[in-house]
Amino acid sequence: MSGRPVSQIIEEGAARYGRNQEAVLRILTDVDRELGSVSEEAMAAIAKCCRVSSAEVQSVATFYSFISTKPRGRHLVRLCRTISCSMKGSAGILAALEKDLGIAAGQTTPDGRITLETTSCIGLCDQSPAMLVDDTPHSRLTPETACEIVRGLK
Ligand code: FES
Repeated sequence: MSGRPVSQIIEEGAARYGRNQEAVLRILTDVDRELGSVSEEAMAAIAKCCRVSSAEVQSVATFYSFISTKPRGRHLVRLCRTISCSMKGSAGILAALEKDLGIAAGQTTPDGRITLETTSCIGLCDQSPAMLVDDTPHSRLTPETACEIVRGLK
């Protein structure tokens, strides 16, 4: 996560994508990628910048699971729960990760180190089960390899 102010990220996004409704998702994505989540204040600023309502920005932000409106940990683990991964044991992997981290899916470890989420298909069905760790794909997981990968996160 960068330490840049949200206003700077939004302004750079507006310069790149425009100040209109079409730019909202791209700016939201930039803010989420840099800061780990999009706050209420950031959504209001994006709305003002793109000349749309705050409700419109909020509905876009909450529609896409890859954008978080809640603060996340320093690392984001997203385990796929769609059909191919489910059939190859993603439920067991999730249970192992939850036990290892001491949190449930959707939560962040108390030290703010790791947020665990589930997601829909990430395009690695032929190598399932799969997860993304800070946008890096990991595939053909077992409960043991998934926990090993997550334990290695600083
Ligand atoms: S179903 Fe899991 S990657 Fe496609």
